[in-house]
Amino acid sequence: MSESLSVKHLIGIKDVTANDIELIFSTADNFKQIINRPIKKVPSLRDVTIANVFFENSTRTRISFELAERRLSADTLNFAASSSSVKKGETLIDTINNILAMKVDMIVMRHPSPGACSFLSKHVDSVIINAGDGTHEHPTQALLDAFSIREKYGEVRGKKVAIIGDILHSRVALSNIFCLQKLGAEVLVCGPPTLIPKHIGMLGVKVEYNLMKALEWCDVANMLRIQMERQDIKYFPSLREYTMQYGLNKERLNSLKKQITVMHPGPINRGVEITSDVADSDQSIILDQVENGVAIRMAVLYLLAAKQEN
Ligand code: CP
Repeated sequence: MSESLSVKHLIGIKDVTANDIELIFSTADNFKQIINRPIKKVPSLRDVTIANVFFENSTRTRISFELAERRLSADTLNFAASSSSVKKGETLIDTINNILAMKVDMIVMRHPSPGACSFLSKHVDSVIINAGDGTHEHPTQALLDAFSIREKYGEVRGKKVAIIGDILHSRVALSNIFCLQKLGAEVLVCGPPTLIPKHIGMLGVKVEYNLMKALEWCDVANMLRIQMERQDIKYFPSLREYTMQYGLNKERLNSLKKQITVMHPGPINRGVEITSDVADSDQSIILDQVENGVAIRMAVLYLLAAKQEN
């Protein structure tokens, strides 16, 4: 395995190699041990300053990056677009260049526009880490999801993963498809036809519109949220009808011949795509995903900072 990443930025899983992913995982293994010790901090990124620039709401990703940075002893600053001069008309490039002028070394950015992180990486002189760009990619989410599957089963290769729900508006789905396939898993997407992109089969995934068939096929079901905030038209008659067709409940889970693992990137809409008794069951690894997010983000920050030095 190579000791350094093949990329300077983390824009999407599409751009990284299987070797990069394995390197991030083995680095995260070490960081996971460290953050479970009484003294959780290491000095690896002392004197490195990282700005978390969020133009969209976030709980898990923002807090997880901030914790990862603190555990690595980096200096961090948090920028919320809602209370910034973006509201006065400042451009994205001007905003980021002003932040960089204050001697910031790395930018973690969430933005509602697909491609915003890629655009920024070509116009400013800094490391850019994508914390979710519109409906495009959410690379660290896919890394922590695959890392959690590896932790549960020992390896990702050969596992059958069903991604279920609003595939059309999901950056998590696209990053997961790239990541899982690079690691040798089989991927199936399931949801109403209106929420499955027409040509998604070209990515090499299976497509299934029947929830029970998808559940019977898979080892892991990754349940996605319906992204009402990105839906400009009605894609299904009502949330109640969606839940009747595609909601995962205990009865459906218990009717399967094998014990599958249930995942969800959050935020959960309890009672819509997943019931509370499933989300909180022994088969759910949802909070393991959240825990692993810190170690994965520490690994990404550490490896990209090392790459910047070389
Ligand atoms: N999974 C995820 O991206 O959650 P947040 O939107 O809370 O960051």
